[in-house]
Amino acid sequence: MPKPNNRIVSGMRPTGPLHLGHYFGVLANWVKLQQEYDCFFFVADWHALTTEYAEPKKIKGFIPDLVKDWITAGMDPERCVMFQQSQIKEHAELHLLLSMVTPVGWLERNPTYKDQLEQLAAKDLNTYGFLGYPVLMATDILMYLPKAVPVGHDQLPHLELTREIARRFNHLNGDYFPEPEALLTPQSKLPGLDGRKMSKSYGNSIALSESIPSLKKKIMSMLTCTKRARLQDPGDPDDCNLFPYHELFTDKSHFPEIIEGCKNATWGCGDCKKLLFTGLSAFMEPFLERRSALEKDKNLVWDILSDGNAKARICAERTMEKIRKKLNF
Ligand code: TRP
Repeated sequence: MPKPNNRIVSGMRPTGPLHLGHYFGVLANWVKLQQEYDCFFFVADWHALTTEYAEPKKIKGFIPDLVKDWITAGMDPERCVMFQQSQIKEHAELHLLLSMVTPVGWLERNPTYKDQLEQLAAKDLNTYGFLGYPVLMATDILMYLPKAVPVGHDQLPHLELTREIARRFNHLNGDYFPEPEALLTPQSKLPGLDGRKMSKSYGNSIALSESIPSLKKKIMSMLTCTKRARLQDPGDPDDCNLFPYHELFTDKSHFPEIIEGCKNATWGCGDCKKLLFTGLSAFMEPFLERRSALEKDKNLVWDILSDGNAKARICAERTMEKIRKKLNF
């Protein structure tokens, strides 16, 4: 058995710009974890193919932006290995070997599989690759023999499958793979601008790379409490899309002013939004600074990935040498 380590592994599919929902849902946790663990974070570009197989060429364009979003959020390439799944060809080999021991029934029963088939009904997802999504994910994880995997609740069934695949492989071939724990990300406290879940497809999101003028426009056009149709109508902060934002971005010393201004109609929603804009733009300032530093050098993120790939490859080669030997190939 390999030595116990302090490693965690996680990945994201490159499917478009990340927003503050991703930040509070996943990235803020990753940023924290990089202080405590030996981190491997990767761009799951092969995974993106499971749903985007009809337009494979568009995936590459999202890769540098994803890494930029990570760094914008405060992830440090000096502290964590950032790599690109498709550049570590060992993932394809281990995926094949793990697929041999994975019963089809486990994959068909996977709740996220059924869910996604329904939700993405417009796409034909009746492919072998889509059914095997969790086997590829198990590969990404087990390759690096980590102690834990930071994921959101939605990914828990996949992680459970990873553990089952590891157990079955170990049972058949002798112990090798760890059964990594989930490091659950706390649920995000940030709703979308309209109060629904934040999502680019709902048009209610704030991108990590949002410019200040565009941020201002988005905040100033947020819908507020429906009770406040006119300035003199009193409102209720608990019933307003703005308040969860104030809780995250506005200094607590302003809360009495906000609550009193709203409940007694002594100020307008525009005043309330201006205060929120001040807090939110201050919060996002370091994001934009890191972003503009990144934009100066076109090759920088590709260089970061190529460094990360080299480090990931060393681990992957080591794992595969052991596995090939175990299976006598
Ligand atoms: N399935 C994950 C998602 O959709 C992405 C992913 C692929 C992943 N491989 C992984 C996450 C390995 C953690 C570990 O968000």
